[in-house]
Amino acid sequence: MAGSSHVYQAPRGTRDFLPADMAIRLHIEQAWRTASINHGFDEIEGPTFEHLELYTDKSGPGIESELFSFRRTGGETDFALRPEFTPTLARMAAAMGRGLQQPTRWFSMPWHYRAERPQRGRLREFRQWNIDVIGDESASADAETIAVALNALGQLGLGPDAVRVRISHRNVVNRMLSDLGVADDKVTAAQDLLDKRDRIDASAFKEKAAALGLDAAAIERFQAMGAEPVPASTDPATLAEAWSVPAETLEELVALRDELAARDLLDACEWDMSVVRGLAYYTGCVWEIHEASGNERAIAGGGRYDTLVESFGGPSVPACGFGMGDVVLELVLQDRGLLGDGTDLLPRPDAFIVCLDEAADAQVVPMLTSLRNAGLHARASDKATRNLGKLLKDAGRCQARHAVILGEELAKGMVQVKDLDSGEQQAIQASELVSHFGAG
Ligand code: HAM
Repeated sequence: MAGSSHVYQAPRGTRDFLPADMAIRLHIEQAWRTASINHGFDEIEGPTFEHLELYTDKSGPGIESELFSFRRTGGETDFALRPEFTPTLARMAAAMGRGLQQPTRWFSMPWHYRAERPQRGRLREFRQWNIDVIGDESASADAETIAVALNALGQLGLGPDAVRVRISHRNVVNRMLSDLGVADDKVTAAQDLLDKRDRIDASAFKEKAAALGLDAAAIERFQAMGAEPVPASTDPATLAEAWSVPAETLEELVALRDELAARDLLDACEWDMSVVRGLAYYTGCVWEIHEASGNERAIAGGGRYDTLVESFGGPSVPACGFGMGDVVLELVLQDRGLLGDGTDLLPRPDAFIVCLDEAADAQVVPMLTSLRNAGLHARASDKATRNLGKLLKDAGRCQARHAVILGEELAKGMVQVKDLDSGEQQAIQASELVSHFGAG
């Protein structure tokens, strides 16, 4: 149709994955899955869309404005594409009732959809790895979720010096807000403003803080709140004094510090009371992982949500977890030169067959078949040329490990195998090919 070429472009905020892009995605997901399994988490999945109220009731206003909602043609029920996984997970846990094993450790890595303005680090369709522990109220569970996140980042080349885990606690933040003079009915609005502080200019912040009923001195303190993160190793008495909160408010953070220390993770962690997180259901410790320079948005975010499962009619069970998206993570990995253009991550063929002799052509498909039946990654050139140089270039393009060269000597049962990494070449029996590659 004339004038409607835009409909043939991908919608804004979505991505096409060409083979090299797909290789990058799978590389990231491989690290997520390996870290999850190695830490004892079992994989789950849920529906891509849910009843709209699941999110309007449970996620809160931060997510509500970003929903893709819809109705079936002629239907009356409102649905929404999944913007996050936690409500689905809590619904699944609640539905298991007393059958829910405690603790339960689940992971998933599904697609999510948010109708946000697409920008660096923010798309409308993204993958998000979720790690959750249900039925364990101890700080050990929180530390375990942080450990599994850092383990996956480590596998991808982001060691403890490359990232910071910024940890906060809703009760400590609320205590600090109430000390500033924020009234009980304005705490949620104040948390929301704190969450936005770094993204809005100072005058807009002051205006909104004044609307919360704060005087000039309190606004100044509010502006400085958590501006200087504190090493997670800091002793509790120093923290209590710095934040002007009673020591007992810090009990859970102190327990978490010990659990992080036991896992040798303390150096990557800091207390940052400006972290509040935009979702309504968090109840205790909340945290985010950022790239060390702080330039990108959060790589991951999570925390404790001890009342969510019960709010779905399930048992009263504590829970904690996090979500890590692929978009910011990929930007961080690219910035640090840890991905290249993705071609190096594509699966390398074990054998790439090139045929120099017309009489040997008929052997190509049977040879491919026997290599593949033995579990090997085997390809053959599609080129019509018999020029060895050009054919080897073809093998190099897909980063094959070996070229299997079929020539006149195939009539005597022999082929040449060239190791394309070392350049070494040897003649072997065609019938020995599979065992030559260590398979069969
Ligand atoms: P969240 O902070 O909304 O938390 O998202 C977690 C991560 O998902 C973010 O740090 C970011 O990496 C990624 N993310 C979020 N929105 C977008 C977007 N529009 N484009 C690209 N990436 C995005 C949650 O979703 C919680 N449900 C996590 C959780 C699990 N808490 C406990 N368990």
